[in-house]
Amino acid sequence: SKLEYRGYDSAGIATLEKDSIKVAKDKGRVENLYNLEDTKKLEGSIGIAHTRWATHGIPSKINSHPHLDNSESIAVVHNGIIENYIELKNMLIKNGYHFISDTDTEIIPNLIHYYYNKDDGHDDLKLLRAVKKTCDSLIGSFSLEILSKYMPDNMIVVRKDSPLVVGKGNGENYVASDIPAILSYTKDFYLLDNYEYVLLSRDNIKFYNKNLNEISKETTTITWDAMAADKDGFEDYMLKEIMEQPKAIRETIGSRLDGNKCNFSELDSDFSKEFLSSLHQIYIVACGTAMHVGLCVKNTIENLCKIHVEVDIASEFRYRDPIVDDKTLCIFLSQSGETADTIAALKLSKEKGAKTIAITNVIGSSITREADYSIYTHAGPEIAVASTKAYTSQVVLMTILAIYFAEILGTADESLLVDIKKNILELPKKIEEVLKCDEEITKFAKKIYQEKDVFFLGRGIDEAIAREGSLKLKEISYIHSESYPAGELKHGSIALIENGVTVVGVMTDKDLVKKTVSNIQEVITRGAKTLVVSNQDIDKSMFDVVIDIPETNCFVSPILAIVPLQLLSYYISKEKGLDVDKPRNLAKSVTVE
Ligand code: G6P
Repeated sequence: SKLEYRGYDSAGIATLEKDSIKVAKDKGRVENLYNLEDTKKLEGSIGIAHTRWATHGIPSKINSHPHLDNSESIAVVHNGIIENYIELKNMLIKNGYHFISDTDTEIIPNLIHYYYNKDDGHDDLKLLRAVKKTCDSLIGSFSLEILSKYMPDNMIVVRKDSPLVVGKGNGENYVASDIPAILSYTKDFYLLDNYEYVLLSRDNIKFYNKNLNEISKETTTITWDAMAADKDGFEDYMLKEIMEQPKAIRETIGSRLDGNKCNFSELDSDFSKEFLSSLHQIYIVACGTAMHVGLCVKNTIENLCKIHVEVDIASEFRYRDPIVDDKTLCIFLSQSGETADTIAALKLSKEKGAKTIAITNVIGSSITREADYSIYTHAGPEIAVASTKAYTSQVVLMTILAIYFAEILGTADESLLVDIKKNILELPKKIEEVLKCDEEITKFAKKIYQEKDVFFLGRGIDEAIAREGSLKLKEISYIHSESYPAGELKHGSIALIENGVTVVGVMTDKDLVKKTVSNIQEVITRGAKTLVVSNQDIDKSMFDVVIDIPETNCFVSPILAIVPLQLLSYYISKEKGLDVDKPRNLAKSVTVE
């Protein structure tokens, strides 16, 4: 249940006791499992469990994990996608196996069984060899937990491109897809590389490499407090994470900006003036909210460093043969560090000769194993599917990185850099100020929660903020929303504006505010209700609601301006009685493409 936040549609569990594997599973929430007759029959002190987000086959009891082989000797849960499952399934059918689900996963326990039976050995590694042979035949991504009658006190786990961590306990050991899920049981973790096999029992953990040679691994101690992954008295994780942004940002800044000095020791001397001035361009590649961070900081980097910046969606970048070479720096943003497309885009950039930096929140996540350099945001665990503090901490981090590069390059005015740094240091206090708009936003949310469409407008950096505001709203309130560069609206989409439609405007750029005001005036004339987030000198009487945010340097204004928009989507979702932390169809970590 601690992994529910990742997004899922079915849940299941299998335990092993006295040579018998028992399974309880069904579509729907984890809590439904408690009432199943099958659950009451579960016995034992070793088990595997899963929350499924459907890829192959609809959400149903049969398609839920764990899956068993035909002889019910092996149970498997699987995250990821097996791309060659049809040919493997056909091979197994030819060998007498049958299948009851539509999943790709069901081939895995059967394949293990198939290889196990073909192996004449009788030693302790027989099951492990069958698992290895199975994994060698799989194409795609997988993290697997395997339970078998053949080794009743043990569990085998392995990963390839999907996350999996092993937690070391005392007289007990744990496996999970991420650290926060088992943080209340242990702080000592083993982080696995692709194709590392783990044989676990209650008292023992053994590691094997791809060729099944035993290897030793060090534990990583996680300093996060278990409380950090709890709701801490808040109704939802999302609200908690919105409210803790001052703290999260403080942590991000604390590790990177020491008074006036930027600190990126990870990048060391490789990022010399010579290297940075040789760059033809910087790519920022990411998905979802993280991609919106890229849009926010593009202008900052171009302005301060005078290097052309392209922001790209990872799933597009990876398939369009981008112009990337050794004169390109590629920065990959990912809260989880596990997003499949972002990791694939990173691998492609490396192949093409670019230097790669990963910016992530999760220590030891897959992306950090691939990137040349990894920088952590230190925002603490983010549990709600809708990303909030990860966004603001990434914008802060990227802005400090832009300053760091500009200082090496000597491309920006010293006084401007000093001013931005001063503004960054003031951000945590200013976010605290912004959070006070809570009540005003709640009132507006009550007014508009039944709307069908909401439009978000802005220009320049404010357009990037508007995009993230719009994404937040659709993610958790299911209201259709779109964001536009304010000047572009009249080239078509203004046709959708009619009496009563809600328009949200963002105005923090003093050079563009007058233009945006005119565009919003145009929608007011056509009957729109308006909410404006601004720190500029505007005629407030024009708009229905104005949320004043503190003045700040325009480069860091997204960090303040997004907060009322996060709260707006949160309160609309609450007003509609929706599950804020687990919106339908969405997953926190998209580990399949
Ligand atoms: C999913 C999540 C989003 C997130 C995106 C990228 O779509 O629901 O909230 O922004 O993935 O995730 P990442 O972990 O790579 O930042």
